[in-house]
Amino acid sequence: MQVQLLRSLAATALLAVGEAAALQKVNYGAFTQTATYSVANQLGFFTAYGLNVSYLQVPNSTYGYAQLLNGGYDIMTGTIDNAVNLRFNSNSNLTVTGQLDQAPELAIASIANITSIPDLKGLSLMVDSPVSGYAYILRKVLSLYGLYLENGDYTFQVVGATPLRYADLVAGQLPSGSAVYATILTYPYTSEASVVAEAQRPNILARVSDFIQPLTSSAFTARNEALTNGTQRALIRTFMAAMYSANQFLADPAQANCSIAAIARQANVTAVAAASAYKSAIDPLTGETSSPGGNFTVSRQGVLNVIDVRSQFGGFTQVPDGFNFAEAILPGAGKLIDYSVRDEALNATVQYCPTSC
Ligand SMILES: *[C@@H]1O[C@H](CO)[C@@H](O)[C@H](O)[C@H]1NC(C)=O
Ligand SMILES: *[C@@H]1O[C@H](CO)[C@@H](O)[C@H](O)[C@H]1NC(C)=O
Ligand SMILES: *[C@@H]1O[C@H](CO)[C@@H](O)[C@H](O)[C@H]1NC(C)=O
Ligand SMILES: *[C@@H]1O[C@H](CO)[C@@H](O)[C@H](O)[C@H]1NC(C)=O
Ligand SMILES: *[C@@H]1O[C@H](CO)[C@@H](O)[C@H](O)[C@H]1NC(C)=O
Ligand SMILES: *[C@@H]1O[C@H](CO)[C@@H](O)[C@H](O)[C@H]1NC(C)=O
Ligand SMILES: *[C@@H]1O[C@H](CO)[C@@H](O)[C@H](O)[C@H]1NC(C)=O
Ligand SMILES: *[C@@H]1O[C@H](CO)[C@@H](O)[C@H](O)[C@H]1NC(C)=O
Ligand SMILES: *[C@@H]1O[C@H](CO)[C@@H](O)[C@H](O)[C@H]1NC(C)=O
Repeated sequence: MQVQLLRSLAATALLAVGEAAALQKVNYGAFTQTATYSVANQLGFFTAYGLNVSYLQVPNSTYGYAQLLNGGYDIMTGTIDNAVNLRFNSNSNLTVTGQLDQAPELAIASIANITSIPDLKGLSLMVDSPVSGYAYILRKVLSLYGLYLENGDYTFQVVGATPLRYADLVAGQLPSGSAVYATILTYPYTSEASVVAEAQRPNILARVSDFIQPLTSSAFTARNEALTNGTQRALIRTFMAAMYSANQFLADPAQANCSIAAIARQANVTAVAAASAYKSAIDPLTGETSSPGGNFTVSRQGVLNVIDVRSQFGGFTQVPDGFNFAEAILPGAGKLIDYSVRDEALNATVQYCPTSC
């Protein structure tokens, strides 16, 4: 791949074009191939930062966070609800190093012959885990239509992460042959769903942003041990710097066509689906460019809403009485949210212009 790299003063660790040096390996766990990742990967940002990033698809949250904690992933992006749950309920040693998005195109989608939320009564709905953030969000929206899991108005089918649930929704069944009816979809699957052939095209029954707003979703998450190891911390810093540069490129309206092409190539979707996904990725309320300051800062209200929804459905059973959530979400060293590596990453960016898209 041809890359043009303008060396900046702050980028002494970077390689100039032509210098033969091995790229550093990064094991990156993620639930979906976000627009920022698509731009970074397709347009050469990772290579420009000296990284060889292996995208490791998270099959389900339980497995994904176990991998993060045992060092199988150097860094991951996952919904912040998982980090909130693992930190506050289980004292897990993981830290959110920045917010990536506020749940672009998060929606409740069903098979073609179901056309409204009340139609879901009596059916089984696909989830990643019954105690994951998206399951609580599903419960929240359905509760506003008078449907409650705890009353037996519907049940859950535990299937796995969004790519698996999307494939099953479009197929109308699980690999085992059991019927499926509805699930929660996120970027870019809601857009992909919109261009599926009509007979199989999922219906969007509700957009979550019409009910909960703002909602912090994908967040950069690392294990504490990696952040205190100089080598591993440097790798995380460089990865976040590359993602930040890609995120700024994504946010630039002058680069829209190039970003759309990167999304189309990464997700292997049509130009129409990619243009729709791009629109959701730059949505000022939900997109990947919506973090306060555009610099991966976590929306305080967005994380408070995550806590609120989880609380409503008894999702903090291991949290001691009197726990101070407001204090626990303040950023700081050793806390749930720690921006120190993000701050270093912002200082470690270089000017990089993709030569082609
Ligand atoms: C990245 O690493 C993989 C092995 O994980 C290797 O096959 C590939 O050639 C490497 N890419 C570059 C550009 O070095
Ligand atoms: C999660 O993924 C792992 C690894 O693929 C798998 O072994 C496990 O059965 C999955 N768990 C669920 C609940 O699907
Ligand atoms: C997290 O780290 C602390 C301090 O090292 C330790 O006491 C605690 O047991 C760890 N938590 C878990 C869940 O392993
Ligand atoms: C939709 O189709 C499924 C499977 O054929 C069926 O079980 C379900 O009752 C139908 N739902 C509606 C609302 O027609
Ligand atoms: C820090 O991380 C590097 C790379 O993973 C590892 O080789 C080294 O042993 C770690 N150092 C400590 C003190 O754990
Ligand atoms: C993007 O592409 C469309 C046609 O596909 C073109 O009309 C438009 O001018 C392009 N925008 C930019 C900023 O290049
Ligand atoms: C991309 O999608 C097309 C059409 O759905 C399919 O034929 C092709 O195999 C896919 N390519 C990859 C690399 O997944
Ligand atoms: C990031 O943006 C926030 C919100 O605008 C701002 O307060 C903060 O200073 C910025 N941080 C950095 C490191 O640029
Ligand atoms: C970032 O760079 C500025 C200017 O050189 C410096 O004042 C600041 O301490 C640096 N911040 C971090 C976190 O490295």
